[in-house]
Amino acid sequence: MKHSTFPVQKIATSKLSSINFDNLKFGRDFSDHMLLAEYNDEIWKTPQILPYQPLELFPAASVFHYGQAIFEGLKAHKNDAGEVFIFRADENFKRLNSSAARMSMPEIPEDIFMDGLMQLIELDKDWIPVGDGMSLYLRPFMIADDPFLGVKPSGSYKFMIITSPSASYYSGAVKVKIESHYSRAAVGGVGAAKAAGNYAASLLPAKKAQEEGYDQLIWTDAKNHQYLEESGTMNLMLVKGKKVLTPPLDSKTILPGITRKSILQLAEEWGYEVMERPITVTELVEGIEDNSISELFGVGTAATIAPISVVGYKDNQLQLPDYTKWEFSNKVKQYLEELKTGKVKDTHNWIETL
Ligand SMILES: Cc1ncc(COP(=O)(O)O)c(C=O)c1O
Repeated sequence: MKHSTFPVQKIATSKLSSINFDNLKFGRDFSDHMLLAEYNDEIWKTPQILPYQPLELFPAASVFHYGQAIFEGLKAHKNDAGEVFIFRADENFKRLNSSAARMSMPEIPEDIFMDGLMQLIELDKDWIPVGDGMSLYLRPFMIADDPFLGVKPSGSYKFMIITSPSASYYSGAVKVKIESHYSRAAVGGVGAAKAAGNYAASLLPAKKAQEEGYDQLIWTDAKNHQYLEESGTMNLMLVKGKKVLTPPLDSKTILPGITRKSILQLAEEWGYEVMERPITVTELVEGIEDNSISELFGVGTAATIAPISVVGYKDNQLQLPDYTKWEFSNKVKQYLEELKTGKVKDTHNWIETL
């Protein structure tokens, strides 16, 4: 297949030497270059790779007022031999376009996303940190920039990719609170899109949970707060006997996670029974109390697996058993982390290399 190569304007002096790779935080430092593609008159113009720099936007740009903004998140890993691995970027490409469709934004052509991403990673590959949990976090996103205050889909957009050397996002087990007041997404809304506004709306409830001593929330359905949806910015899974359970995607209130999809496929291949079905708060609470739920965890790009140690519900704090002994989630975490760093053979065709 022929790949597109886009024009590059290189940075005059790399900032690489100013970065302390021993003290990376998530999403704080940015590599030398970014990709920028502009859309107007109903076409995407040829993208450019430019030095990472501020944007110039009019104050009337529609993203500031009506919030047409979507994004993706994925990672590039490097092994000790300097080889680079990227996990299922084609799935991020597809999800960005389904978010775009829901937010009435134009779809991005595959070569701009995929070839642009690969070219950018190649150019800034020295920025990919090596080591446990370290990666170059890749953030493709699209914003609407028409300087026009009428409420309608913008006529012009910017698609960009920025990259950030990062250490892992979470570590250890998390304490979560079942949210029974606020909602992340409602039926008919935009929960299945990776739309910026979903995250804005989640900040206050997450902050309140943190003030109560939790790390994150478990989101429940907006109507009655009876069904489990997601865990913070991760999908939620649990293990009951030989069954791996997760809430279904059909209500379109849950982000269709790429880690979720991959783990469900692996679970099936490994002989677990996979059930995508509604899970009630009552089933979760009772299953923790009677020990029939052996593992409960969030799944997502940031941490791959985030084991849950405590679930807060009403005035109770339910304790899960020691996560270091959990069979399925530890096995799948190790498998995916080894796959993403080239240590196990990619039998599913999930990995791209440079
Ligand atoms: C709300 C939400 N749910 C789930 C996920 C997990 O998705 P993925 O596995 O594709 O990272 C994310 C992260 O992107 C998210 O923001």
